[in-house]
Amino acid sequence: MTKNVVLVGALFGDEGKGKIVDILTQKVDYVVRFQGGNNAGHTVEIGDDQFILHLIPSGILHGDKTCIIGNGVVVNPRALFDEIEQLESRNISVNGKLIVSDIAHVIFPYHSLLDELRETKKGKRKIGTTKRGIGPAYADKVSRLGIRMVDLLNEKIFREKLQINLDEKNYLIVHVYNGKPFSFNEIFDTYMEYGQRIKPYLNNIPLVLDKALKEGKNILFEGAQGTLLDVDFGTYPFVTSSNPTAGGACIGAGIAPSKIDEVIGVTKAYSTRVGEGPLPTEFYGEFAVSFRKQGNEYGATTGRPRRCGWFDAVLTRYSVIINQLDYLAMTKLDVLDHLESIKICTHYKYNGTLLDCFPSDMEILSKCEPVYEELPGWQEPTSHIREYNKLPKKARVYIERIAQLVGAPAKIVSVGAKREETIFID
Ligand code: GDP
Ligand code: IMO
Ligand code: MG
Repeated sequence: MTKNVVLVGALFGDEGKGKIVDILTQKVDYVVRFQGGNNAGHTVEIGDDQFILHLIPSGILHGDKTCIIGNGVVVNPRALFDEIEQLESRNISVNGKLIVSDIAHVIFPYHSLLDELRETKKGKRKIGTTKRGIGPAYADKVSRLGIRMVDLLNEKIFREKLQINLDEKNYLIVHVYNGKPFSFNEIFDTYMEYGQRIKPYLNNIPLVLDKALKEGKNILFEGAQGTLLDVDFGTYPFVTSSNPTAGGACIGAGIAPSKIDEVIGVTKAYSTRVGEGPLPTEFYGEFAVSFRKQGNEYGATTGRPRRCGWFDAVLTRYSVIINQLDYLAMTKLDVLDHLESIKICTHYKYNGTLLDCFPSDMEILSKCEPVYEELPGWQEPTSHIREYNKLPKKARVYIERIAQLVGAPAKIVSVGAKREETIFID
């Protein structure tokens, strides 16, 4: 039976989506990115090889799958070519396997510069973006100034649109941020060339997917970032500028909700976050440093240290609801192997009241105190285990308690970064 699956990050990104997508790719014919851009960093480890994908779907590492970059993705062509070259230098060809939406919006150097200048200007109130120009590119898209892939193929239209954009952007860069203006000709020539180079990959994705559906093919939609970074449902303004939630797959790829059969949420067995914004269960001090080291928690895109904390059932419950998660894929259980006891945040306490839901008011959230339940750690290695029943009893109790608290079962448990370090629960 055909199954079309949306996989999303359940929390703040970096949940291990790349690893889980790589595993699930065996069962599908198409893998589709539907939002975000090269702010994403999805790691896949196969044997001794490590791949970090930023724009190209993680399914590309399987020889025979079609990988699609949907209209909801903002594409930096330079980053895309670099990624293609890097894969090809490792004998992974994208030819005939990669399709890019002809209506995806394009990231220009002024987007990245504005991203950086705005962050600097915000000072202590910065978001901690990846500085890849993601926010400014999406802002142009919704303000109807954006330049799409197809525009790069039409010299006249591209010239006009770029001129309008550069007039405005150069004014901002020079007069608001004291920066250096961009040269029209340099960008125009470079991107005209990019257009010709990207042309063979471009197509109308809704039509491609419709054909796939009619042929009974299976499609996996690969979310980037995570639910709590969603521009609508996340910890606004400390979010990204797209919809990494399940509904985003429909808009960002051009597929109807009626065609989605299952939604999977990837979560770590604890919490992490890169950049600014609330992380209610955050660790501080010595423990934070040693835990980060144990979990190797450094960003796959920017290398920044990730903030770590206990598993937060309040946030995850919210994520289960927004995405209507059918099940969880829980990663990095092995990182907790050494701990004597492990906490789960079950509620927040605000002004003496217990909250079991994520509050919309960020000021309230910042004043919430996590309420914990403490469970004994299993203190044995788990990375070699392949069957759920062989996991230490205390690890199973931990996983099942989380499932009960968040309202979704775990069906995949990951105990290491490699493909084979995975447990499937029937
Ligand atoms: P993504 O953005 O959601 O794809 O996640 P990232 O690739 O940014 O970060 C996840 C990190 O955890 C990567 O370094 C993975 O190789 C690693 N990883 C994934 N699953 C596991 C696991 O079960 N155990 C351990 N120790 N590492 C894992
Ligand atoms: P993957 O797909 C973790 C975070 C940034 C910042 C905020 C806004 O690998 O899970 P942006 O550059 O998008 O405007 O930054 O979002 N962020 C991520 N955090 N994983 C990601 O992607 C992220 N992409 C963006 O750190 O807090
Ligand atoms: Mg990542």
